[in-house]
Amino acid sequence: MPRTILKIENLKTYFNTWAGVVQAVDGVSLEVKKGETLGLVGESGSGKTVTSLSVLRIVPRPGKIIDGRIMFKDEDLLRKTEKEMQKIRGAQIALIFQDPSTSLNPIFSIESQLIEVIQQHQKLNKEEAKEKAEILLDIVGIPDAKLRIKDFPHQFSGGMKQRVAIARALSCEPSLLFADEPTTNLDVTIQAQILDLMRDLKSKFDMSMVLITHNMGIVAEMADRVTVMYAGRVCETSSVNDIFLHATHPYTVALMRAIPQIGTEKQKLQVIPGNIPNLINPPSGCRFHPRCKYAKSICKMKVPELEKVEKGHLTACLRWDEIKKTLLKERERAA
Ligand SMILES: Nc1ncnc2c1ncn2[C@@H]1O[C@H](COP(=O)(O)OP(=O)(O)OP(=O)(O)O)[C@@H](O)[C@H]1O
Ligand code: SF4
Ligand SMILES: [Mg+2]
Repeated sequence: MPRTILKIENLKTYFNTWAGVVQAVDGVSLEVKKGETLGLVGESGSGKTVTSLSVLRIVPRPGKIIDGRIMFKDEDLLRKTEKEMQKIRGAQIALIFQDPSTSLNPIFSIESQLIEVIQQHQKLNKEEAKEKAEILLDIVGIPDAKLRIKDFPHQFSGGMKQRVAIARALSCEPSLLFADEPTTNLDVTIQAQILDLMRDLKSKFDMSMVLITHNMGIVAEMADRVTVMYAGRVCETSSVNDIFLHATHPYTVALMRAIPQIGTEKQKLQVIPGNIPNLINPPSGCRFHPRCKYAKSICKMKVPELEKVEKGHLTACLRWDEIKKTLLKERERAA
């Protein structure tokens, strides 16, 4: 059995704004196993980024973690002091963003930025840190690393900048990497190169990864398991295979039907009707009920808990058992 490296239990992170309390993450539970890539998916505003920022305890104000446990290697990160967290950030858990400029300072050379982060966490002198920085740039595929290390971020293209950001994130060999839509801003060919690089580095550095993405194609290619979020809660978790073939939560099913299907002309692209709910005053009971075609009156009253559908497959739907049978018939008819 693979060991669990990260276990989030009932995490609640709220933003206390002038308009009211935004329940951005409201009872999220998920797990990352050692060595795996977990795909974290869901519509915009579903709480994916806030969940990852919560793990690193860098939620911006007015956000606040108000409840839950975040067990990383069997220790609760929510009980750590800020000083202890500083040692964990970057060194054990790293984060790369959609926009590499977020991780890179425009006014310092790549060399000084890499040396700084390496020396923050490792007892290396400047020469040794520089050598390590050059090796890292080489590993992430920057040609002429020895020369290019003197450059500033603006002298790199978007794809190259993301490679540098990856080098920075990996400089202390973290055991867990959060990659928040790392390729969204890049051309398709560059996207593929960066994803290949991340896959290679993950095995080279023996890391676990949480890959946040809107792109189910990337999930299919990169992830071992998937957690689907909706309006600040988890609606389904399973292996990649099960998410594509046996999703049981109506939101996941709708999400899958919203993916263009190559080669299946008869299956039309379906858009999930309705809007993402307002998280200041979210729908009662199951937050998906205003958009769910299977909703019954109970769904407005009761909050669904994650239940086991099968080993490794959890779903938070009050009617999953009936829906599973209906879907099975639909799939048999469509086959
Ligand atoms: N600083 C903030 N103040 C108030 N609300 C915030 C703040 N940051 C995030 N939120 C709210 O938290 C919720 C979750 O946001 P989050 O950024 O985690 O979504 P996401 O799933 O990452 O979306 P996307 O796919 O667009 O990146 C949203 O409703 C958002 O409006
Ligand atoms: S609990 Fe009800 S509203 Fe929510 S997904 Fe299941 S059937 Fe739909
Ligand atoms: Mg986000």
